Amino acid sequence: MAENKKILLSGVKPTGRPHIGNYFGAMKQFVDLQNEYNCYFMLADYHALTTLQNATELKRNTLDLAIDYLTIGLDPANAVIFKQSDVSEHTELAWIFNCILKMPYLMRAHAFKDVVTKTAKVISSSMPLEYTVDTIIRDKGVDAFKDVTVGTFDYPLLMAADILLYNTDVVPVGQDQKQHIEYARDTAEKFNNIFGDTFKLPEEKIVSDLFTENGSMVGIDGRKMSKSYNNHIPLFSSDEEIKKLVMKIETDSSDGEPINVRAIHFPIRKALYPNELTGDYFKNLYSEKRGQYQALKEALITDLIAFITPLRKKREEIASKPDKVLEILKMGADKAKLQAEKKMSDIKDKVGVK
Ligand code: ADP
Ligand code: TRP
Repeated sequence: MAENKKILLSGVKPTGRPHIGNYFGAMKQFVDLQNEYNCYFMLADYHALTTLQNATELKRNTLDLAIDYLTIGLDPANAVIFKQSDVSEHTELAWIFNCILKMPYLMRAHAFKDVVTKTAKVISSSMPLEYTVDTIIRDKGVDAFKDVTVGTFDYPLLMAADILLYNTDVVPVGQDQKQHIEYARDTAEKFNNIFGDTFKLPEEKIVSDLFTENGSMVGIDGRKMSKSYNNHIPLFSSDEEIKKLVMKIETDSSDGEPINVRAIHFPIRKALYPNELTGDYFKNLYSEKRGQYQALKEALITDLIAFITPLRKKREEIASKPDKVLEILKMGADKAKLQAEKKMSDIKDKVGVK
């Protein structure tokens, strides 16, 4: 690794096929930044385990995500591409962080709050929207946590370990991960205060100007695009899938303009053609084809197919050589392990277990 370059680390969970929101929000940045930084790209399989508890699926998804990483253009000759669970220092360091961070602090994490709020809604469907975790706990007692695994609660500290083990400077992620990077920074500061200067404070790198839905790309139902809402367009979809998904977008005809088609087409077009004046393209398209929902959807389908087809073909080629992919992961694990062991040795010394 080049001495003079800063360090970048990021990861994606192997929980299913990545979608265009993942790609334009996070993964494309990996590719764009890989020459500027010394890079670590991780397959966050232990994080995936918090929601995916099926060995066959997790194994398949992990290999698939490695293939996806290579397809979008991550270069194993320069970047370290590895699987989180291959480097046991991640979970080891997470334990140390468990011992110094406090419960109320972790209870402020969005992901934790989301599960608690959902549980409370199931317990009482009349729960007002403004319910906070505090009021839920007061009203429901420990039942408020009945659907929260300890892994979900602890998720931010394993992620802090991922980041801090490699002296990471920047972490490219989507807007919804911003809080996790703040957790990593706070955790580093907390550790440094107790045991002396050990960790660098990482910064997030977020592209949000492309998107509309709270800084994220919208899905076909107008909410944030997410695998968990099942409103996503997979990055390597077939033509048929693309057509079916786009045709599912509901059109709102109140003022003669299909708002939802425009709302999803706009960020996609802007992402696909960053140097083009997307506003002008849309003004023309949407005035020429005013009210012609089918034709407007077809324009979106054409844009998606033109972008996805070559990627899908490249993916098929890489997927046909799984042994090569496994070899790359082995090489990545060896390199990551070397750095993680070195860092862990210092950490163990600092906390007094060496
Ligand atoms: P999902 O919500 O679909 O399960 P992940 O949690 O696996 O997505 O996210 C992987 C990466 O993609 C993260 O960096 C996340 O911030 C980013 N990301 C996810 N959804 C979007 C979106 N709709 N727009 C932009 N970035 C996104
Ligand atoms: N939490 C991230 C997500 O849901 C995945 C992740 C795990 C990650 N460890 C990381 C991202 C370290 C960046 C850095 O997408």
